[in-house]
Amino acid sequence: MVFPEYRPRRMRQNENFRAMIRETRLAPEQLVYPLFVMPGKGKKEEVPSMPGVFRLSVDQLKQEAKDCLEVGVRSVILFGLPEKKDAVGSGAHAKNGIVQQAIKELKNTAPDIMVITDVCLCEYTDHGHCGCLAGKEVDNDATLELLAKTALSHAQAGADMVAPSDMMDGRVSEIRSTLDENDFHNVPIMSYAVKYASAFYGPFRDAADCAPQFGDRCSYQMDPANSREALREATLDVDEGADILMVKPAVAYLDIISRLRDEFDLPIAAYHVSGEYAMIKAAAARGWIDEQRVMAETLLSIRRAGADIILTYFAKDMARMLRG
Ligand code: PBG
Repeated sequence: MVFPEYRPRRMRQNENFRAMIRETRLAPEQLVYPLFVMPGKGKKEEVPSMPGVFRLSVDQLKQEAKDCLEVGVRSVILFGLPEKKDAVGSGAHAKNGIVQQAIKELKNTAPDIMVITDVCLCEYTDHGHCGCLAGKEVDNDATLELLAKTALSHAQAGADMVAPSDMMDGRVSEIRSTLDENDFHNVPIMSYAVKYASAFYGPFRDAADCAPQFGDRCSYQMDPANSREALREATLDVDEGADILMVKPAVAYLDIISRLRDEFDLPIAAYHVSGEYAMIKAAAARGWIDEQRVMAETLLSIRRAGADIILTYFAKDMARMLRG
């Protein structure tokens, strides 16, 4: 196929042709909207570094779920800001903890929305690390039990799916067996299988008040330089019983999404994280880029790389745009 026999522009001449041969599409039901839940009543506080994203009290969730469903977004992922923090993150698995309350509220007032929960301790520990400590180290094996307890408490409150984001070794199998022993074999695990130690989480740590009080997360989250290791992480999680594999962040790791897509047949999710959102918002606020078009192009690139599911703070905006 050489010019002039083949002219690629022939198939680009108008939107009918372009739409006909479009290879990648986005749909609202592929998007997951993250929600930050805080104590109190009637609370809706905007996160300064994430314009358009709010910390909400439990009573605000019904409206939020309604807004999502209206534009076709069918799932949310919950993050909690507890009343109190302690060394072992007890608030994460408290029977009436903030996320447990939020799940029940959503199940009662908006039963059509899928409720996914982030399973991690960093929002609940006073030191801000994703597990309990042994000295200055995060104690992997002691943390597993706490994570499993947390996932179980979410399932008991009515969560549809749990998503461990802590990056402890062995947590998927620990959570799977705990859920199964308690008759929750139908609650899937969306594993943050490949989660990098990324600076793109900055605004999230403000939103969820979970920045580590000392050190960093490099001894448990992945080194941004590594891609073969991503395959090992994903293989472990598949063997341990994960139902969905997630890559996080998304845009700086499109190569990883693409590699996982080639190597695994499970559904792949990608988390378009807080910093990725904030950068688009900030540049758009200055009039430097077109927010809507950059949003759509970015999320499309994540789909094109191979993600089936995208967790994004743009979920509602993108869905609205798709609906015209
Ligand atoms: C909890 C968790 C984090 C994010 C999702 N779950 C923060 C972190 O690991 O520091 C980040 C999400 C985002 O940046 O949007 N461990």
